[in-house]
Amino acid sequence: MDIAALSADALSRIAAAGDGEALEAVRVALLGKAGSISALLKTMGAMSPEERTARGPAIHGLRETVTAALTARKDALASAALEARLAGETVDLTLPAPETPRGSLHPVSQVMDELAEIFADMGFAVATGPEIEDDWHNFTALNMPESHPARAMHDTFYFEAAEDRQADAPQMLLRTHTSPVQIRTMLDVVSRHPGGAPLRIIAPGRVYRSDSDATHTPMFHQIEGLVIDRGIHLGHLKWTLETFLKAFFKRDDIVLRLRPSYFPFTEPSVEVDVGWTLNGARRALGGDGDAPGCGWMELLGSGMVNRKVIAFGGLDPGEWSGFAFGVGVDRLAMLKYAMDDLRAFFDGDARWLAHYAFSPLDVPTLSAGVGSRA
Ligand code: DAH
Repeated sequence: MDIAALSADALSRIAAAGDGEALEAVRVALLGKAGSISALLKTMGAMSPEERTARGPAIHGLRETVTAALTARKDALASAALEARLAGETVDLTLPAPETPRGSLHPVSQVMDELAEIFADMGFAVATGPEIEDDWHNFTALNMPESHPARAMHDTFYFEAAEDRQADAPQMLLRTHTSPVQIRTMLDVVSRHPGGAPLRIIAPGRVYRSDSDATHTPMFHQIEGLVIDRGIHLGHLKWTLETFLKAFFKRDDIVLRLRPSYFPFTEPSVEVDVGWTLNGARRALGGDGDAPGCGWMELLGSGMVNRKVIAFGGLDPGEWSGFAFGVGVDRLAMLKYAMDDLRAFFDGDARWLAHYAFSPLDVPTLSAGVGSRA
């Protein structure tokens, strides 16, 4: 075959190759080890110098033409494949966008925010204290000296003493209630402002007790309240609790019953019950618990701060008096949002969370920004 015919044949085979694989087969047939053009190149070795001069340029020219045609065809096939893929992959902008998973507030966070907001309206600041506490703040300064029976009632998680513990090092524990924040706040305020009080705080947070059943978990949440000022009396306590509970449960008919009780850190101490009435088969908070078919639900502990506790807080009990209260936050959430098993709060089951969780965007809370309430 002469070179012109060989060239025309090669170019038409290259043009006919429909994909990368077919093109590669053509390349091997022409330029591979046993390819027809390779064979032609090999014949040059046996040529006389005159013949090589006469035919050489045409043979080399053929190789270059074919190589260039192979490259051009390869590029054309690649861009055709890309175009076909792009055409098949068009984005339909009219389809709804895939949903982005959105975080939500745990009911406990929600309720803590609601409480902080309600108490902020009454001038209370939020105070905090450590969850790993020492027994002086958790017990002694709250008028529970070492052998006090109330200590045993708290089922405390104590930390084991380290082997090299100093004899006078404090016994550490997981705080059993938020009440030690009362002591820490009084001492802190006294250290910053000579004279100390007045002060109004709430202290929400985690507390720990060695206890577990449908209504008790080893970790749970409380909120502590403390007011210290001149001339504070039980009337202030009752008004504050009533105002708070009406705002929290969003009912004007909340009725409180104060029952004498005992806590080492308050004197006198009162247990606060809230009246409930029947709403169909369900008990609903609100109304006079003494009415027929109604009753009282024990809700929280409170009282006038014990003089000894005021003194442990670094304040003069002759000058200052105050009230305090402690409530279970989880319990408040269960009552307000009709949840019946406390343990579900801390299982971390995503289905439960999705069912009960609050959207930080829908509900006006501190987390969502106080200003979001129109
Ligand atoms: N600390 C108590 C408890 O965990 C609750 C309590 C009762 C707190 C009376 C108070 C209070 O501040 O005055 O059982």
